[in-house]
Amino acid sequence: MNASVTSVTHFPIRAALSAFQPASAASALTIDLGARSYRIHLGFGTMADAASWAGLAAGHTAVIVTNTTVQAWYAQPLQQALEPIFSRVLVLALPDGEQYKTWNSLNTIFDALLTHQCDRKTVLFALGGGVVGDVTGFAAACYMRGVPFVQVPTTLLAQVDSSVGGKTAINHPQGKNMIGAFYQPERVVCDISTLQTLPDRELSAGLAEVIKYGPIADMAFFEWLEAHMGALRARDPQALRMAVQRSCEIKAWVVSQDEHETGMRAILNFGHTFAHAIEAGLGFGTWLHGEAVGCGMVMAARLSQALGLVDAAFCERLQHLVQAAGLPTVAPALAQDPAANAAAWLHHMRVDKKAQAGQIRFVVIAQPGQAALATADDALVTRTIAQCSAQTA
Ligand SMILES: NC(=O)c1ccc[n+]([C@@H]2O[C@H](COP(=O)([O-])OP(=O)(O)OC[C@H]3O[C@@H](n4cnc5c(N)ncnc54)[C@H](O)[C@@H]3O)[C@@H](O)[C@H]2O)c1
Ligand SMILES: [Zn+2]
Repeated sequence: MNASVTSVTHFPIRAALSAFQPASAASALTIDLGARSYRIHLGFGTMADAASWAGLAAGHTAVIVTNTTVQAWYAQPLQQALEPIFSRVLVLALPDGEQYKTWNSLNTIFDALLTHQCDRKTVLFALGGGVVGDVTGFAAACYMRGVPFVQVPTTLLAQVDSSVGGKTAINHPQGKNMIGAFYQPERVVCDISTLQTLPDRELSAGLAEVIKYGPIADMAFFEWLEAHMGALRARDPQALRMAVQRSCEIKAWVVSQDEHETGMRAILNFGHTFAHAIEAGLGFGTWLHGEAVGCGMVMAARLSQALGLVDAAFCERLQHLVQAAGLPTVAPALAQDPAANAAAWLHHMRVDKKAQAGQIRFVVIAQPGQAALATADDALVTRTIAQCSAQTA
């Protein structure tokens, strides 16, 4: 082991995760969390299908929280689907954008719930991407000390990642997702047809979180992604379904092992320590989260190589797939001067939620298909950043 490594914690995931079966098309998956277990209803037209909503604890009122963009496409079909179950179905549309993942939006939701005399049996439906899902989930966790909520994800990122697992949050001016709660939804209703209206850039951003599952847990899935990236970008429905399903299976498995991220769940943050530095360093919203994750995964793979864990061929393979997904792979400059640039990267990585006592903890690839947590010398990290900044796209 390289002298730069101060600690590596391994998570032997492959032994217990079910094998990838490219042909299988499950319509429902279960997140196994004991009393908080729930189902993901997955398919085409699931939003309009009464079976998706059967068995939900029906209250008097349903409140669909969405944003103005998604409202125009999908609020009405969802409202129609819920009307047979609830006496009242209200729609609340927040402005669209990460900059609205704030206390203000949270208060807007509370104001509406109180104004409409919503009781603790009111069910919130988060209709939209990760922003709407995170804010609505946190509102549900807080309102009257907790009301039920359902995730209805409409971006690829939300379908493969943020709608599953119960992390909810808003941003603080000093950091992303800094105020939040673990609060599981009652159900996830994932309608893959909604991805047909998603902008190309958002589709690519979601693919970063899909690719992530390969190096950390499943190289058979990674190979499948290499073979099907063209079909995914062309929005081939069956390819999208396979990608969403396998991503959810892996996320469900990891979350069921470690709901509150005391250990293994951290592997889902592969690429995210570098990504958070890009997002914060360039200013939130300059790069989409998924774009930063794409580049961040390449950087984390190069760090794994520098730590002697994987070889150059693996890093190049990952970089190629990230590029094929339409994502950036060259680390951006966070400052003009090289020393200031390195300092800026390290500064932003130290405020990462995985950091402990100021020490940065990276998700590294122990071997293709298996992740580990590691700390590394600043000098080694700085060299990795320089290496990834210099690469040609
Ligand atoms: N809770 C978690 O575990 C978790 C995990 C990953 C990311 N996140 C959070 O998720 C957020 C990013 O989510 P996102 O990438 O979905 O971004 P987003 O919610 O901002 O959605 C992206 C854009 O797509 C639009 N949109 C959504 N669905 C659409 C559709 N079907 N057709 C057309 N346009 C559509 C939205 O209005 C928005 O403009 C970040 O805030 C991130 O922190 C949370
Ligand atoms: Zn992410």
